[in-house]
Amino acid sequence: MGQPIVIGSERSEAGLPAAMEILSRDGSAADAVETALRLCEDNLADHYVGTGGLPNAQGVVELDASIMVGSTRAFGGVGAVRGYPHPISIARAVLEKLPQHAVLVGSGAELFAHELGFEKAELLTDESRALYRDALRESTSSVEGENTRATTGDQKYREAALELVRRLGPHDGPWGTINVLAVDADGELVVGVSTSGYPWKYPGRIGDSAIPGAGNYADLRYGGAACTGRGELSMRAVGAHRIVDRLAAGDDPTAACLAMLRDAAHLPDEFRSELRCLALTPDGRHGAAAGQAGSTYNVMTMSSTQPEAHPRSVL
Ligand code: GLY
Repeated sequence: MGQPIVIGSERSEAGLPAAMEILSRDGSAADAVETALRLCEDNLADHYVGTGGLPNAQGVVELDASIMVGSTRAFGGVGAVRGYPHPISIARAVLEKLPQHAVLVGSGAELFAHELGFEKAELLTDESRALYRDALRESTSSVEGENTRATTGDQKYREAALELVRRLGPHDGPWGTINVLAVDADGELVVGVSTSGYPWKYPGRIGDSAIPGAGNYADLRYGGAACTGRGELSMRAVGAHRIVDRLAAGDDPTAACLAMLRDAAHLPDEFRSELRCLALTPDGRHGAAAGQAGSTYNVMTMSSTQPEAHPRSVL
C-alpha cells in the first residue's frame, strides 16, 4: 500500500488539486494523472500544451502525450495529433484499448480517437494565432516559456524556426511540456506527459513526450521520471529511462535527475536549450533538476491543500 502523492512540473498547478482529490478518495494513479493533464490541456493561458498550444511552422497545432504504468510498464503514446484537445486521453486509450501497440502518430492517432468518439476542437486560439503571426513579423521570436533565459542555442533554434515559418507558414498571415507523476493508495505509480512541443516546429516533428524512455518512464520496482524542455536531447539521452536506471542503482531522485542532465550536457547540440526532469519513487521520495537556477516543481500529498513549489536542483 502506498501513501498517495502527486508531483508535477511547472504549470501543473492547474491540474494537481484535482489529481490529489482523486487519490485521496482511493482513486487510481492513472485517473489522477489523466485528470490533471486534461485540466492543463484545457488551460487556455498555457501555450505549451493542449488547446492554445503554439502551432507548428504551418500554423497548425500538433500535440504529443503519453502515459506509463509502473507495475506493468505498459505505455500509451500519441504524436503530432491534430484537432483533438485531450491527447493524454487518447494516449491512455492506446495503452488500455490497443495493447498490441504502444504509440500512434498523426492521422492514425486521429482515426483511433475518432473511432472512440473523442471530442474534436479548434486548438489554435486567438492568442496563440496572434503569437504565431507576431513571430512572422519579428526578426527574432520573443516567445519564452519554462526555459525563460534564451541561450545561444535557443536563439539559433528560433532563427531556424523563423526561416521555416517564412517558408511554410500560411500567407494570411513560455515553451514547455507538463509532467505529472502519481502514486495511489494501492501503491501503483503512473507517469503522464503532455505537450504542444516546440513552437513553429517542422510539421510532423515528435518530441520526447510521446516516446517511452525519453520523456516518460515508470517502473514500479524503482520509480518514475519525466522530462521537459529540449526533447531532442532527452530522446538522445533516453532521459527518463536513464533516471530510473540511476534510481535502480541506488541514487536518490535528485541525484538521479542530476546524473541524467550531466550526461545530456555532453551531447553536441547546436540548438541546445534547457532540459529539466523530475522523479518519484514508489515510497514517495521525489526530486527534480534543471540547468537554470530558480526553477521549481509542484508536490501534493494527503496533507496538502494546494500544490507546494519545491526548488529543482541545478546542474
Ligand atoms: N519536451 C517536449 C518536446 O521537446 O516536445
